[in-house]
Parts: sequence; C-alpha cells; structure tokens
Amino acid sequence: LRIREARLSSTEAAVAALREQQVPGTEEAAATEISTRKKTFSEVLAERLEQAQRTVLINCPSKINEKKFLKYLSSHGNIKNHFFYESYGTYAVVEFSEKDSIASLQDVTGTPQFKDECPVPFKSRIFTLTLKNPASQASEHTPVHRHKLTTVPLGGLIKKLRDADSVSDQLHILTEEYQLTEENTKLRFLTCSLIQDIAGAYFPACTVKPFGSSVNTFGKLGCDLDMFLDLDDGGKSTTRRKTGPFNLDYQMKRVPSERIATQRILSVIGEFIDNFGPGIAMRSSELLYIYGSLDPRVRALVLGVRCWARAHGITSSIPGSWITNFSLTMMVLFFLQKKNPPIVPTLDHLKELSDVQDKHVIEGHDCSFVSNLNKIKPTGNTQSLDVLLGDFFEYFGNFAFNKYSLNIRKGKEQNKPESSPLHIQNPFEPSLNISRNVNATQLERFISLARESAWLLQQDKGLSSSNGQLWGMAAILPELTANSASKGTKKKRGTTSDRLKGLLDSLKTNNSTNGKKTFCT
Ligand code: GTP
Ligand code: MG
Repeated sequence: LRIREARLSSTEAAVAALREQQVPGTEEAAATEISTRKKTFSEVLAERLEQAQRTVLINCPSKINEKKFLKYLSSHGNIKNHFFYESYGTYAVVEFSEKDSIASLQDVTGTPQFKDECPVPFKSRIFTLTLKNPASQASEHTPVHRHKLTTVPLGGLIKKLRDADSVSDQLHILTEEYQLTEENTKLRFLTCSLIQDIAGAYFPACTVKPFGSSVNTFGKLGCDLDMFLDLDDGGKSTTRRKTGPFNLDYQMKRVPSERIATQRILSVIGEFIDNFGPGIAMRSSELLYIYGSLDPRVRALVLGVRCWARAHGITSSIPGSWITNFSLTMMVLFFLQKKNPPIVPTLDHLKELSDVQDKHVIEGHDCSFVSNLNKIKPTGNTQSLDVLLGDFFEYFGNFAFNKYSLNIRKGKEQNKPESSPLHIQNPFEPSLNISRNVNATQLERFISLARESAWLLQQDKGLSSSNGQLWGMAAILPELTANSASKGTKKKRGTTSDRLKGLLDSLKTNNSTNGKKTFCT
C-alpha cells in the first residue's frame, strides 16, 4: 500500500506539472513513465522535504473529536494528510496542501500566558491545542488512533518468528516490524524542516536534510536521525560583478579556524542538531539507498543482520570499539557482491553507468555513480534469504580478516594496507578505514557469534520445532535484558527547543510505555 501511495503521489505531481505546462494528451504518458520507474534518491528527498514544509505539529488533548479538529483546521486550507502519534502526550501531524495555510493558522494563534514564566516569542510550526471548556466538551471527544513510533515487544515477535514458514519469511517479518513506517519517516523530515526554520533565522539560504539510515532504506524504528546542515545550499553564491572599479565583500566576523566557526554556528543554532556529517555522508546515503532499492533481499538481509548484531551487543548506541551499523551494512553489501552471480553490482560498475549529471567530486574525491535505478540490470541470482543469511554468517565466520580488507568499490578483498583488526575501505576516500574503531576483541566476538549462528541456522526446522526449540532467526536472537527505557515523564509544555528535543527523543528511543522488553536499535 505504501508503495502504491508513493507512486500515486509522484504520478499526481507529474500530471499536475504537465497541466501547468498545458501540454494536452501527454498526461497519461507521463503518469505511466513515473509510476513504472523507481524514484531517484534526490526525487524522494525533494518530495519529502517539500511535504514537510507544508506540515505542522500540534500537541492535542488525548481525547479529541477528530472530525471537529479537522474541520477547525480546514478553515485555513485543505488538509492533505494527517495522523496522530503518542510521545510525552498526543501529537497530530497535519499536512496542508498549500504552504500558505500555515501562515493563515499562525495568524490566529495566540501567545500563551504563564504565571511564573515568560514565553520566548519564537513562532514555530509547533502548536498546542486545548479545549475551551474541557468539562462541557468532554463527552463529544474520544481517544484517537495513535501510530506507533517505537519497536515491538519481544514476546509477540518471537511468537511470530516461530510461526513463520522459513527464514525468508522470518526476515520479511522482521523487516515489516522494524522498518521505518511512513509516519516515522514523515516525522523525520518534519524534524529537519523545523530545525531548518530555526537555522534559517540566522542563515536564510540554509537547508537541513536527513542522511544515514533515515533515508538510505536501511533504517530501523528507533535509529538516530542524522542531519546535514548546509549553510548556503550547495554554495549557490552570487557571481561577483567583474566590471567596475570596486570589489564588494560582506563584513564578517573572523574566527581562527573553520572548526571554531562550525562550533559557534552550532552553539547559536542550539543543541538541536545531533549529528553534523560531512558532504560525503550524503553521497554514501544515496549509495546505500540505491543498493537497498535494487532487490528486496538486500534490505531484509541488512535489517536482519542489524537486529542480530544489536541483540548480541555487537553494535551499540554508545560510540566505542564496536562494529557500527554502517560497517555491518558494508559487510552485507560486500558479501552480496561476492555471490555468484552477484546480487548487487560493485561501486565501480555504478560509476561506469553514471552520466554527466551524476558527476560529483567532493573535496577532491570522485563520488560519481548512477542515480537512475532503471539503468542497473537486475541480478540473475535467485538464492533465497534462507540460504543467504546462513551463507553470510558462514562467509564472515571464516573470512581472513587478518589479511584482507573489504572493498565494495571493486567487490573484492584486498591486502590490508595497515594492521587494524577490521578493515573496510571507505568507498569514497580509499585511504580511510570505516571500521578503524573496531578492536580485536569486538571482531573476535563477531566472528564467533557468526559461526555459532551459521551452525544454528543449519539445524533442521522440523526437528527443532517438534522439540519445542526456536529455529531460524528466533534461534539466533538471544533473550534480551529488560529494556524499559521509558525516559521518565517530561513536562507537557515546554519551549520549542524542549519540543524539538522531545520529537527527536521520540524518534530515537525505544521507550516502551508498558515496560515490556523491546529490541533497541
Ligand atoms: P544507524 O546505526 O541506524 O544510525 O545507521 P546509519 O547508517 O545512520 O549510521 P550512523 O548514524 O552511524 O552514520 C550516519 C551516516 O554517516 C552513515 O550512513 C554513513 O553515511 C556515514 N558514516 C558513518 N560512519 C562512517 C564512517 O566511519 N566513515 C564514513 N565515511 N562515513 C560514515
Ligand atoms: Mg544514523
């Protein structure tokens, strides 16, 4: 359904664009063209960011008459989409068809009055809606359906895994349960857009875009939100006038280094921004997006391996000498490149398919690769996920990590240029190792757990089930320690910064409100 919705909206957009151009008779052709091809990374990003700019976030009473609520807001413009979610209160995400509707809503929005506190008059797109007469209105309001933003309780999951038919099914179940939902993705883009509003007060041409697993198709519910702040939107600066006797420059404050300038900018914009990635991270997000969109087995395998690694403590949300999800994803891609026939192409092949628009050189590194997914030939490999998962563990359980580096550009292992225990070449900066942080102990744990899991996956499903034992994915995910990381109760009201932090928290944490065990990211 999600895919159909996404396709429909892009078709609508294409048709609308054509209507504007008044080209009769070509509507159908354009609609077919767009609905039959996969979207490029930049199309998805642009569409979602534009959608986020037409969206507001409203803190509501938990019981509300949804019809009346929508009617009330509709007086400012047509509502295209809306949903509710729960995180330290009930929130509604409301997408208008037109951006102007937000200005109309802001015009009638009041400034709250507090007894002992003074509001900071920053007018954002985050609002609080209250009932005028709660007592008399109570009867007409009922609880609304609220979307889940967090991961599923472990008990229910184990049961589902046990009842599945095959490891492939299990991996599809895990993908269904853990992938980012449409609503969660919308909130991620909304968060970027709200932060862009704040940063835009200082740097009007700036953009804030998500990168990393929020957009590279490998995101799991609860994964962090990596944001890229571009202060002048790709450096589209004005061209200097070449004629005339003068040069005109902006007067600017000087600081001793770029690093200090960055720190100052960040401290001014606030503590909103969790991650500040380099330009190349945007390219690697697009690269992973391409790999994740090529074949459904890729995402299922990556998500399955991510769940496995997290459940065993091979990855952690705390930075340290553990393997990161990014490195794990690269390992899965490398493994899929090594299959015969390969399931995903090498980065060099994606570069060969690129054309002029795809050319990107960032800080002297060639980051070019094809953006049009339809130019990439589908694989002839039909191996099932059952086979692939087992093979993955077997492959890395026996890989000569002491000798070789993984290189996804060439799809080949190469002699290690230095002695780090795990060496995965950075695809865009070949002299760097993306897993330099990993120590020998962590790598050994990964290897021994991979061997053990390969063995467990080889056990006969029927026999294990009849002995009452877990099988497949359920057998390789250990019992988890209780993780009722409900982060305490937060104040309902707060400053915009509190609200934004709350929004980030709600995306990031796996706070189970009922204290049940959950998988974390
Ligand atoms: P999660 O664990 O789900 O957040 O996965 P992620 O892919 O978002 O990883 P993370 O948040 O650690 O990093 C965000 C993005 O930064 C990654 O997707 C990569 O694009 C990039 N990145 C992370 N670590 C490295 C690294 O060691 N080297 C390089 N070149 N890029 C990295
Ligand atoms: Mg991330």
